[in-house]
Amino acid sequence: MSQRVLVTAGASGIGLSIVKAFAAANRSSRIHICDIDERAGLALVDQLPGVTFTKADVCKEDDVRRLFDDVQRELGGLDVLVNNAGIAGETAPVESYDPQIFRQVLDVNVMGNFLVAQAAIPLLKQSPSASILIMSSLAGRFGYANRSAYSASKWALVGLAKTLALELGPYGITSNSIHPGATQGERFMNVLKDRAACTGTTLEAQMQLALRNQSVQRVTEPDDIAALVLFLAGPHARTISGQMFAMDGDSKAAN
Ligand SMILES: NC(=O)c1ccc[n+]([C@@H]2O[C@H](COP(=O)([O-])OP(=O)(O)OC[C@H]3O[C@@H](n4cnc5c(N)ncnc54)[C@H](O)[C@@H]3O)[C@@H](O)[C@H]2O)c1
Repeated sequence: MSQRVLVTAGASGIGLSIVKAFAAANRSSRIHICDIDERAGLALVDQLPGVTFTKADVCKEDDVRRLFDDVQRELGGLDVLVNNAGIAGETAPVESYDPQIFRQVLDVNVMGNFLVAQAAIPLLKQSPSASILIMSSLAGRFGYANRSAYSASKWALVGLAKTLALELGPYGITSNSIHPGATQGERFMNVLKDRAACTGTTLEAQMQLALRNQSVQRVTEPDDIAALVLFLAGPHARTISGQMFAMDGDSKAAN
């Protein structure tokens, strides 16, 4: 199925895997990405034909306006919105968490999601088969010691995804949240390093701790998340909406 897709923070990490999955699934799909990393965004455009790029920060209203001017010009409409951008914030207990960083995490993770979804709605309503995928986290299913802003923001996204499902269901638009746990990549390794530093333990000890809460002792691959996104945006998922999809080896907690 040829689709017009927007992936926020698509230049690296999980977003990049999602972009590559859509590109591999159908050569005639067109994928637009935004990212604050211009170098990585332009490098991807060079690598993957059919991918276009806007340098945009999802929590800045002017950037989002510019992004959707580009989406309109490059794609001429939109079938799939993947709201993937999100930042981790600092690792510290609530008692000493920097309020400015807390605000920044909410701004990128929650306001960014809202602004992009809001701008996408008129385009999605014109699509014959539209989907919204919102990247939450394991931290959006459990409390998360020393990661209060991240956890609060990822729970907020469940409310947003479920509300979008209610409001847009009558237009045939689905909206679901995805909740990855420990996912292979640089970010996960940095989280483990921060947690080790914060608690005075080793990286290896933090890896064991991260997997200890999982029934399935495996780290999730970004390509697995991309495959789920592809399915939820595809023709066999037209009645799947308002749901939370955990991909975390059946985790029982977020630390
Ligand atoms: N990696 C994990 O272990 C993990 C687990 C659960 C959920 N998630 C969520 O998945 C999403 C992607 O995670 P990741 O690990 O691939 O991210 P990442 O830290 O690797 O960053 C991916 C991209 O986001 C871009 N970015 C950062 N802030 C942005 C902004 N304000 N506007 C636009 N682009 C921005 C970066 O430039 C980068 O290219 C995030 O929402 C994250 O919270 C990640």
